[in-house]
Amino acid sequence: MSTPETAVASAPARTAHHRRYLMCKPEHFTVNYSINPWMEPSKPTDTANAVAQWQKLYDLYIELGHEVELIEPLAGYPDMVYTANGGFLIDGRAYVPEFRFVERQGEAPAFAEWFRRAGYDTVMPKEVNEGEGDFLLVGDVILAGTGFRSTGDSHREVGEVFGREVVSLNLTDPRFYHLDTAIAVLDPVQGIENGGPERANIAYLPGAFDDASRAILEERFPDAILVSDEDGAVFGLNSASDGYNVIISPRAKGFEKQLRERGYNPITVDLSELLLGGGGIKCCTLELRGAK
Ligand code: ARG
Repeated sequence: MSTPETAVASAPARTAHHRRYLMCKPEHFTVNYSINPWMEPSKPTDTANAVAQWQKLYDLYIELGHEVELIEPLAGYPDMVYTANGGFLIDGRAYVPEFRFVERQGEAPAFAEWFRRAGYDTVMPKEVNEGEGDFLLVGDVILAGTGFRSTGDSHREVGEVFGREVVSLNLTDPRFYHLDTAIAVLDPVQGIENGGPERANIAYLPGAFDDASRAILEERFPDAILVSDEDGAVFGLNSASDGYNVIISPRAKGFEKQLRERGYNPITVDLSELLLGGGGIKCCTLELRGAK
């Protein structure tokens, strides 16, 4: 963990907001199939190390005052630790995923059941979508990724389910196959409601998108933090923010500095073992908005 340093004097004051997350302990973690370029089944994995690293992230959220709910890990579903793909939840409504690959399809009913029991209005999908891996709420708008996992049709569906504007973005680099590997939402609550000095802002990796999507991002988020290829390649963007504390990979050195300059408090957690499955901090974190 890094210690907070004094923010640059001109940077706006940031406020931490309470979060409620869903996580899944990686008790069955391994890499025995490959559905993204990070996964190499021939490389050994260490489940105990995955659990220990995951536990540090869990403990940090608790220490920061957030609430963390747990879903029981299912044997035979080593990717279930990446709960961000388990759904997309706003205002007490849960949109259930339809996983692209058969290896993960058995996770969806378990997540749906968890949401129902937790009191969410649970909506079953018609279209292939991988939850908060590809859908990010920024202020009132849903940024939606496509190209590798969630389909363009799911972007229409998610817009209907939540009655919100959806901005479709095309991912083009197979290493950044989910939107949450290429964009980090820094201020999940809109700036105005937030009482914050700026609009809801993001950080992103320009090289992960096609030209048209990059143009949309430039126009919508003129103040965004542009992350270097180097930091993107170590999953620097796969991070969780509460509006002040931003949990990032210890390898994303440049991003850490950029965050500090903007008045955020970056805190590093190493999930190197879980990166063998192609996931990081955000992948292991699903935000539970509404209901309880
Ligand atoms: N092995 C998992 C997969 O390929 C990793 C998922 C990462 N999740 C994320 N939200 N980016 O589906």
